This record gives sequence, structure tokens and C-alpha cells, in this order.
Amino acid sequence: MALLDPHSFADASHPFATHVSLTFYLDFATSTILGSALLTLPSPHMGPLTLDTRSLSNLSALDPLSLSPLPFSLSPSNPDPVLGQSLTVSLSSHSSLLLTFSTTPASSALQWLSPAQTSSRSHPFVFTQCQSIHARSIFPCQDTPAARIRFSAKLNLPRPLSAVMAAAHLARRDPAPGEAGPACPDALWCAQDRVVEEFAMNQPIPPYLFAFAAGDIGFRDVGPRTRVYAEGGTAMLDAAAREFAGTEEMIRVGEALFGPYEWERFDLLVLPPSFPYGGMENPRMVFLTPTVIKGDASGAQVVAHELAHSWTGNLITNKTNEDFWLNEGFTTYAERRIVEMVQGEERAALNTGIGWRGLNEEMERFKDNMEFTKLKPKLAGIDPDDVYSQVPYEKGFQFLWRIERQIGRPAFDEFLKKYISTFKFQSIDTETFLEFLKANVPGIENQIDLKLWVEGTGIPPDAMEPVSTIYTKIVSLAKDFNAGRMPREDEVADWHGQEWELYLENVPKAVEASQVAALDARYRLAESRDWEVKVAFLQLAISSGCKEYFGEVEKTLKQVGRMKYLRPLYTALVQGTGRDEEKMLAKRIFAEAHDGYHPIAQGVVESILSKHS
Ligand code: BES
Ligand code: ZN
Repeated sequence: MALLDPHSFADASHPFATHVSLTFYLDFATSTILGSALLTLPSPHMGPLTLDTRSLSNLSALDPLSLSPLPFSLSPSNPDPVLGQSLTVSLSSHSSLLLTFSTTPASSALQWLSPAQTSSRSHPFVFTQCQSIHARSIFPCQDTPAARIRFSAKLNLPRPLSAVMAAAHLARRDPAPGEAGPACPDALWCAQDRVVEEFAMNQPIPPYLFAFAAGDIGFRDVGPRTRVYAEGGTAMLDAAAREFAGTEEMIRVGEALFGPYEWERFDLLVLPPSFPYGGMENPRMVFLTPTVIKGDASGAQVVAHELAHSWTGNLITNKTNEDFWLNEGFTTYAERRIVEMVQGEERAALNTGIGWRGLNEEMERFKDNMEFTKLKPKLAGIDPDDVYSQVPYEKGFQFLWRIERQIGRPAFDEFLKKYISTFKFQSIDTETFLEFLKANVPGIENQIDLKLWVEGTGIPPDAMEPVSTIYTKIVSLAKDFNAGRMPREDEVADWHGQEWELYLENVPKAVEASQVAALDARYRLAESRDWEVKVAFLQLAISSGCKEYFGEVEKTLKQVGRMKYLRPLYTALVQGTGRDEEKMLAKRIFAEAHDGYHPIAQGVVESILSKHS
């Protein structure tokens, strides 16, 4: 057995499936899916084929033609908490195999929401989040980004709902008897109140990009290839359409910088507030948290990021999670280039500055675990969700920016375009990138310490804080706060959310409680409509001991499930010694908010609380 990815049981000596045909019956009453997956191999295969699974039940493997069972085994018998179980099927010259299974409420890629947990409050909702290693909790697959697969899917759902998928929509129609085969009995599949939606993805994608959602979903067209979808009625759709009106302009900028947009459509889905990320780059349909809709077009930055993944991440994919910086570092670089074109250099520099601050904070977080400050860390035995950090984003960004400074922007732009066209629709590792870099920029290894950047811990000495008038001014004002000086009204007159975010994140952590309260009395930051500002302020309030904000902290932690906000707030509450009141508060809030959080977010908060109990 030869592993090719520390997060997958997939065997390097087995063929990768090239296509999967999925049949899903969505059962909202039990929060489960009854399903089948017909996997196609590139050629007939004799012997074992190993797939990843986690939290699936009622598994069986069948010969697709005769429907007779194929021998299979599951291992280890006690599922690995991170990897799950391998499913090994014995094939005798099969070029396809049919698997039937059901998901369970523990399937971590799925969040099932009751009507009360949605904005419309009238219909249930379900959505997927497969990155990094959750696809295996929906259907058995070779759940490694080294594998790329095309798929088709039939989703059977209650008629009042509709489904969307990161794939082309083919049809909405009545269920047909017999079509579900062994996945689901006709009595369920063809029941009166059911409908089938069909989709196909004809470009090969890594399994972590598999995505769908179903609920009471409406839409608005906002551009020639962009539609925003959302649940929650017309008010939400109107706000989303306004927020994302500039999307087509960004796609054009992306094409000018990085080459043709290869995915036809670029639609956006705004999810309910429990969505655990800011955005997820599912191909053809980006998934977004509703917290990006602020009414001031700043959600465009998150869209710029997810759009940038259309080239870096979705076209060129990291081979394993150890190469995750190839996805996120390149995308952060590409995002800032798009932002620079549509919002100007100052705005891009501000984003770089926020990132620089974040990178420095991660060095503090990982000071006893420097492995995770490497661009290419060793992740065997580690759950990628547990070590998710700004390092691949911001150290990766810094590395690329350093190369840009060395060779100049025109040469770097040409290099990027060539990199993308050379490796598109492939999954590559860091070494492949370095070889390509050295081949195309001769002598680069004598000018930049590539080994230090890729294998070293910490921040290399030739990384750089951005230089910009606004950025420098804000950082210096934040330092003044410690000396008791609050920014004057005229100094903040044209500040938007990101200026405040940068300011608050740069204020020294242990300031006087009275000073923090005075700042809020003047500028009303705890009530900001901008979640980044609100959370940055509340974090400061907690760490400086301002107990009068605990009510607002509780409200915030119960309103939203985006991990970018849960992580710092829970951490600020429980970190440090002698914070018994805060720790009790954190535990109570988590107990009460738990059911509303996504399973991935539940896991992350649990690990924060247990680390500090
Ligand atoms: N691909 C990530 C989200 C992700 C990473 C999900 C790892 C699961 C595992 C996405 O592109 C992302 O980076 N989102 C950011 C947006 C931000 C950088 C603009 C987020 O969610 O905050
Ligand atoms: Zn990203």
C-alpha cells in the first residue's frame, strides 16, 4: 500500500475514478441522504480499490450491471477521528462500481437547518462544505485533491424547495420510477411531494469542491454570467444584488491578469448565518456568508478572493493539504491584484496590512508549534481544520510578492499567466512550483532563499510590511492609543470598516478598560454593522476586561457561525489565567449556541475550550 496524501486512504497504485454519477434522496426529517455513487474508472481494474469514507452507514458495493454484491472491507474497525475509514472493494476487471450508502447526522460536510434556523423561517435548508476533507462524509470517494473527477447528480427533494449545485443545472422535473436503482425505493423517490433536480460538472474537479445546497432559494441576475442566489426573501436578494453589482467587472479584471475564465458561470450563493467561512470557492457557484453583505460594497473583497480561486486553486490545485499555500497564497496575491485594479492601490495596501498583522499574530499562536508556521508543514495525523490559519494565505502572499519585487511586475505577470496555462486542471505540489519557477526565472535561487521561504519557520527577513500613507497613519494612531490618545473625529472622518479593523487590531492588547469604553462611547464600534469591526472591538473589550460588553459578545456568538468570528471571541474569553467568569460564560454560550453552529465550527470551538479548561 502506498499512500499519496496524509489525509486520504487512497492508494497511489490504484487508478483514480474519473467520473461519479450521484443519486441523492434528501430526507429532511432525519437529516440524512439515501444515496448511490456510480464510479467510473479509466480502464478495467483487477484487485482492490480503496476509497475514503467517514460517518456513512448502510454501505454496500455492487456490480453496476448485475447488481450483485462485490466483496469489500472497512478499516480500521474503530474509525480514525480525522480520516474516517477506508472502504476497499475487490474488483475483477471492473471499469465501474456502484456504491450505496446513507449519510448520518454526524456527516460533517452537511449542515441541516430547521426552518427556525433560516432567514425565511418557513422552510428547512441543507448545505455542504467539503473542504478540506469532508467530501468523504457525503459519499465514498478518493478524497484527495490529487484526484480530479467529473460528476453528474440527481437530487430528490421536497417540491417546495429548490436545489443549487457547483455544477451546470440540467433539469427540474418529476421523479421517474426505477431511476434511483438500489439507492432509494420508488415509494420514497416518487412520492407525491417530491421533485428531482439534475446537474452535471463536465470539468474535472478535486473532491473538496463538490457542493450543493437546497432550500427556499430565490435569485437575481447581476451580470451576464452572474446570478446571486439566497434564501430569506426579496430583501436579502435585493441587498445581495446591490452588494455584488461589480462582479462582472472583477471577472474581466481577473481574465486580463490571469487568462480566460474557464468555468462559464460565476454565480454566488448567500447562505444562512451559520455558514462557517467567509466564502468558499465552489466552482461556478461561490458560497458566501451573509455577513459580507454590509451595504457598502466591501463584500467585494471576499468575492474577489473566491473569484481568484477560479484560476489559483480550482484550475491549479494543491496536491495535498501540505501544499495548501499553493491554493491560498496564490489566491491572496491574485485577490489583491484584482482589488488594486477595481478599488485602487491604497485599498489593496490596507488589505496587505491587515494580512501582515494577521500573519504576525499567527506566529504568537504557534510559538510552541513552529511547524505550522512553515509554508509547507508536515500534517500527518493532523486535522487540517485544527491548524487552519493565516500562514498559507499571508506567508504565501509574501513569498509571491517577494518574487514580484525581485523580477519586477511585468515579468511576474507573464510568469503567472504561464504558470496557470501550464498547470491548469492539474493538482501539483510545492516542488513542482519551485522547479517551474527556477526553470522560468533562471538564477532566482541565488537571489531569494527559496528553501528558507518554503521549509523555514517564522517570517523570513525579506518579507515586507506594506508602505502606504493610510496604512502607516492608522498603525501609528493605534500605537498612540496606548499613550491615552484617541483618534480625533477629523482623523477618522473617511474611515470605512477596514480602516477601523486595522486600527483595532493594532491597538495593544492590554489597554485600560475605561479607555476601551471611552473609544466605544465616541465611535459606537460594538454596534457596528460591519462584523469585522464589531468582532475586532469585542475582542479588545474582552481582553482588556470590559465586562459590560459580555451581553453583546453573547448576542454576536449566537447570531453567526462564521469561524473567523467564533475563533477570536471564544479564544479571548478563555485564554489566560484567572478568567473563571469568562470561561464559565464561554461554556454556557457554547452550550446554548452549539446546535446552531456547523459541525466543523462545533469541533473548532470545542478544541478551543478544551485547550484552556
Ligand atoms: N477556501 C477557503 C475557505 C476554506 C479553507 C474552507 C480551508 C475550508 C478549509 C476560502 O477561499 C477562503 O479563504 N475564505 C476566506 C475569505 C477571505 C480570505 C477573503 C474566509 O472564509 O474568511
Ligand atoms: Zn481562499
